[in-house]
Amino acid sequence: MKPSAEHAAARDAGLPVPRAEPEQPRLLGRSRAYTTTNLPERLRHWHAPRINRWERLWVTAGSLVIEYLRASGTTSAELGVQESRWFAPGTRWRVVHMARDTSFELEVHADVKGQAEAPQLLRTDLLEEATVVSVDAAGTLAALLDALPVGERRLVHAGFDLAGWPGQASSARTLFWHPLAAAPGGFTVLVARSGEPFDLAAYLGRDHAVIEAALGGALAGDSMYDAWLRATLERHLRIEEELVFPAYLAAGGRDAWVTGLLKEHVFLRQYLGELDQPPSRHRFLRLLDGHDEKEERVIYPDVLGHVGARATRVLDAAIAMPVRAATPMSG
Ligand SMILES: [Fe+2]
Ligand SMILES: [Fe+2]
Repeated sequence: MKPSAEHAAARDAGLPVPRAEPEQPRLLGRSRAYTTTNLPERLRHWHAPRINRWERLWVTAGSLVIEYLRASGTTSAELGVQESRWFAPGTRWRVVHMARDTSFELEVHADVKGQAEAPQLLRTDLLEEATVVSVDAAGTLAALLDALPVGERRLVHAGFDLAGWPGQASSARTLFWHPLAAAPGGFTVLVARSGEPFDLAAYLGRDHAVIEAALGGALAGDSMYDAWLRATLERHLRIEEELVFPAYLAAGGRDAWVTGLLKEHVFLRQYLGELDQPPSRHRFLRLLDGHDEKEERVIYPDVLGHVGARATRVLDAAIAMPVRAATPMSG
């Protein structure tokens, strides 16, 4: 298989090359043939193979255009008949155009080779490969954000207290803002510039990806990623519990769904507290994976359907939700 330009660039720069396909794929299932008339809506939106799952798209007739989110931004690709493309665990992708008479199939695979070291399959490049910048004043941060090109992201270490997220003045909603850590006198945030305004579901889905990236580093033994994991997950759960679910229920959303999700949040917090114990780690990985998938595929679209135009207010409040300042760990 021909290495992509991205792989060549990573190799030339001496960076680890992300795996483009599973080493020992084991086919778990195959979709029906998708055409322009029966394409599921979720495939038109950003979605991703879950932890330990690879997807292979295979074009059986016609041609289609897909987009996928790489560490470097959004990339599009046109695939012709008999062409295929692998999507690694956690790679967000979507179908943007299908020519008439196009059909394709999706296969879901597990990587047999990777199963023993499952956590390593989590994609950490969202955080690991971000350009790191340090800023010492709010004005410098504002200038950096203003000049951030579409598709680019930065891991910002700021040496001042955060008075409020600096995107509040903008109604464009193209700045992804995911705080990772906060302490008196400084904070760390992952920022990225989107080419188009994003909605609440896209923000929360990207927040899942940030949490999964922090989890990958934490499981590899990096204490900074471990702290980021705890801070980003707690912030995300609070966004849902204090903003998203109340707005959803007030708009007539399903009580039983929220009750189920809240129960899972209790277990997520419990297992996270015992992440150093293998059984809890295993349960945490499985629960987080299923929980995030359910929210992205079923819950968030239903939230948008119920909350309607008010979702932008919830989105602004979600982005502005701070991470709690780090407290010294006991023990
Ligand atoms: Fe949740
Ligand atoms: Fe969530």
